[in-house]
Amino acid sequence: MQTLISARNIKKSFRIGRKKRFLAVNDVSLDIFKGETLALVGESGSGKSTLAKLLMRLIKADEGSIAFEGQEIEELSEKEMLPFRREMQLVFQDPASSLDPRMNVRDIIAEPLETWKVYDSREKTDERIMELLDMVELKEDSLKRYPRQFSGGQRQRISIARAIAVNPKLLVCDESVSALDVCVQAQILNLLKKLKQEMDLTCLFISHDLSVVSFIADRVCVMKDGEICETAPGEKLFKSPEHEYTRYLLSSIPGQ
Ligand SMILES: Nc1ncnc2c1ncn2[C@@H]1O[C@H](COP(=O)(O)OP(=O)(O)O)[C@@H](O)[C@H]1O
Ligand SMILES: [Mg+2]
Repeated sequence: MQTLISARNIKKSFRIGRKKRFLAVNDVSLDIFKGETLALVGESGSGKSTLAKLLMRLIKADEGSIAFEGQEIEELSEKEMLPFRREMQLVFQDPASSLDPRMNVRDIIAEPLETWKVYDSREKTDERIMELLDMVELKEDSLKRYPRQFSGGQRQRISIARAIAVNPKLLVCDESVSALDVCVQAQILNLLKKLKQEMDLTCLFISHDLSVVSFIADRVCVMKDGEICETAPGEKLFKSPEHEYTRYLLSSIPGQ
């Protein structure tokens, strides 16, 4: 199996107060394989978002190394990072705040395509936007509408369309279904599954909810207090969790 991202011994602390520092990510090593959906689960505050930001080099680690397709990215300048930025796209939890309310759907999805100068004409960009709308199962008449005119699930489809527009290699979904009703959650998870197959995507799927992850993850990393305490294939983790904390998380899923 080929590795897309490989992180070794990364640490990140934040200053809290004048003298103290809080270790949010503590000596984490992790591989993300090409084509897999790797889930990162753990309670709120366990360091999941910080780890994701470190892997995407949105923030810099205090220590450790990160390689993307074998190339070290931890020490690259912002300029050198640019080509990698395109390959790693993020879908947030709350599309209401991550989508610009003043932009219509066409412009929201066009933005990354224009930023990266993917096409040389407006026609080609619009053609791609139509294709993306179809991929995320939104109707054509969505184009001229604004984020507030959509439901939470539909807004998340817009965010996903924007994130996959430039054909990234890695899609990071940080609590991307956590704010949605269970039924809408399932629809978005199905969509992500479908896209992953169609586009040969690698996905880092972050959630505090282990039950959500069971549906989508090939492998699961369980995170606690800034450390990864267990990594296992999804099925194995649910059938025979090894770490005490994983068992605790499993026991807190309703209906188990
Ligand atoms: N920029 C920051 N400054 C200070 N503390 C931070 C910052 N970002 C995250 N933290 C702290 O690091 C810990 C992990 O946060 P986070 O990675 O957001 O956890 P999770 O995504 O698992 O909920 C939390 O205690 C949080 O308060
Ligand atoms: Mg988070």
